[in-house]
Amino acid sequence: MPGEPTHEDAAVTEPASTLDRDASGWPQLHVSRHPAVLHKLAVLRDERTEPKKFREVVRELSWLLGYEALADVEVRPIPVTTPLETMDGHELADRIGLVPILRAGLGMVDAMLELMPTAQVWHLGLFRDERTLRPVEYYNKLPDSATVDLCLILDPMLATGGSATAAIDVLKRWGASRIKLINLIAAPEGVDAVTHAHPDVTLYCAAIDRQLNERGYILPGLGDAGDRQFGTGLSD
Ligand code: PRP
Ligand code: URA
Repeated sequence: MPGEPTHEDAAVTEPASTLDRDASGWPQLHVSRHPAVLHKLAVLRDERTEPKKFREVVRELSWLLGYEALADVEVRPIPVTTPLETMDGHELADRIGLVPILRAGLGMVDAMLELMPTAQVWHLGLFRDERTLRPVEYYNKLPDSATVDLCLILDPMLATGGSATAAIDVLKRWGASRIKLINLIAAPEGVDAVTHAHPDVTLYCAAIDRQLNERGYILPGLGDAGDRQFGTGLSD
């Protein structure tokens, strides 16, 4: 609507320290406002957080975001006999596939498997070419056709959106009909790219940060999520 503020306007008028970007321009995007998420996110961002603690917090945040992202999965009734009587319980009806993007998405898998122990895990290997910032696929062992109803793509960072868009392209070619993308931190540029390319995909994250820098890193962000989890990148 003319005259309404957009997220581009917000980039100009908000103070640099503001992290809570207005997500109303992206109806497919859910940004968690849970206090536990906000608290853990600050620990994750802190440059003093060592890899062991960093991995622990990635796992905890993944559990909390996963809990929110799974709120609408299908269940079907099953009879359950308690020590006192038989009742109608529920079991998951959707076949769920977790798709961690290597490397950094690996740290999100265990928490999601705690939530959904019967989920299948399909790894996708993508890295960003440092020069072009375009994703390069290096690992994909998906079978010929889709074996799940709902795919949850796991990756801590949504920066330019190139990796997530490529992952969604792969999953759609595979036959996935429902896809959700779970990130810890997203840049507005990445949300724009994914929602434009794939308006049917729902996105979940803990924060929309301000912008990308000239090397495609999220500001303020947390640095390199893979390096911080696995203790690499020390020569940078
Ligand atoms: C990081 C991150 C995403 C990608 C996001 O991975 O985990 O996969 O960058 O950037 P984009 O939105 O601009 O594509 P990276 O390429 O650093 O690989 P790694 O996980 O192996 O460190
Ligand atoms: N990948 C990361 O790990 N961090 C960023 O800020 C951008 C891409």
